[in-house]
Amino acid sequence: MRASHLEDFYQFLRFPSVSTDDHYTEKVTECGHWLVEKLTKIGLSAKLCPTPGHPVVWAHNKQQPGRHTVLIYGHYDVQPPDPVRLWDSPPFEPVLKNGYVFARGATDNKGQILSHILGVQEQIEAAGDLPVNLHFVIEGEEEIGSANLGNFLSQNRKALKPEIVVVSDTGMISRGVPTMSYGLRGVAALELKITGPKMDLHSGIYGGAVANPLTAMARLLATLHDANGHITIPGFYDEVLPLEDWEREMWRKIPVNVDEEIVKETGVPELFGEKGFSTLERIWARPTAEINGFGGGYQGQGTKTVIGREAMAKLTFRLVPNQNGDKIIALVQEYLQKNCPPGVKLDMAAGHAGPWYLTDPHSQYGEAAQRALKKAFERDPVLIREGGSIPIVSDFRDILGAETLLLGLALPDCRAHSPNENFPLENLDAGIRINKAVLQEIAA
Ligand code: BES
Ligand code: ZN
Repeated sequence: MRASHLEDFYQFLRFPSVSTDDHYTEKVTECGHWLVEKLTKIGLSAKLCPTPGHPVVWAHNKQQPGRHTVLIYGHYDVQPPDPVRLWDSPPFEPVLKNGYVFARGATDNKGQILSHILGVQEQIEAAGDLPVNLHFVIEGEEEIGSANLGNFLSQNRKALKPEIVVVSDTGMISRGVPTMSYGLRGVAALELKITGPKMDLHSGIYGGAVANPLTAMARLLATLHDANGHITIPGFYDEVLPLEDWEREMWRKIPVNVDEEIVKETGVPELFGEKGFSTLERIWARPTAEINGFGGGYQGQGTKTVIGREAMAKLTFRLVPNQNGDKIIALVQEYLQKNCPPGVKLDMAAGHAGPWYLTDPHSQYGEAAQRALKKAFERDPVLIREGGSIPIVSDFRDILGAETLLLGLALPDCRAHSPNENFPLENLDAGIRINKAVLQEIAA
């Protein structure tokens, strides 16, 4: 690893480019500027494109007729570092320990997108140009649902016109095992608010006479699943595409004991999920309903005998082929409204949403990507789907007409979105090799 590569990585990580929190808006833009400068320095035409939200970084080499056109996508925004006190070192002061760099965004997605930039840098240094027409599109709003990137793609469709998109923002099944993902789950968000009395009440004076909004919320949320982890909303599973036999077979042969790994990594006493499916099937091919936040009432020290005036909950649903996010949110709203306990009022607001993605890993470019992974790791790649979501990937198909190769570098213990997020330098190197190999294989 060149010292200058490591220095680039550290500089990139020092920007607290948290997209969801207005306090960081300026830092997000500064990080975008840094990328433009870096991409310009390595010989690309780069600019920062404003949007109603955070800006998009766009860079390209000189487009020449007769060459394949590739778009490499990534994001420079990161999740909030909270809870900060659970980090072993400050989240925006990268440190290297045993070959791993610790910082917010190290894996998701700065290390991964930087490896592509460094790969391009090395190729231009060595050969003066790349074997393909290349665009980098690096956005600042992935972690909040990519609300403005679709527009950017529509507006610049003619200039971009990629035949294929390359994204490294997914996982590797295990360290050293090259992994291509051919599917992502979608996501749809819903916020709930239950209100009762017009103010917080003394629970001795009013307890027994009025419904408690927090109790109502707890009862309501408990109607989402049955005891077997199955979602109880009528129609929720109607459009779910059953797994194909070849997939179930292939996933059974994956050389990792996923159940053991998850127990070890997360510290849960045992795994739990929808009965009748393996862990990988549940994460990659089954939808879920998650309560991401739930609150109200008194949360301070000691006790307070109070009936809170309102309760809130934040839900997200992970979606799989062929579920439709809008339809699912409508089903959920109807079901919750019907099941809301008496004496309170329920209000709901749909949040951001992103569709699922499924592509053919054996397409012409899929095969090229697999050859590239094999070259980069000197080992046969494993084909997986993912439980996470990258909402813009379906827009690459719908707006640009291009499929996406998901060549992830995140390790199972990378702690993305958690304290002590990290990325091994070994994978920064691997990403550089993947970048070179995949551009060459696509060009061939
Ligand atoms: N890199 C992740 C997506 C991901 C996570 C892919 C795990 C594969 C495995 C991405 O940055 C992310 O976190 N996406 C969000 C999207 C959401 C905010 C719309 C997600 O999946 O929660
Ligand atoms: Zn993320």
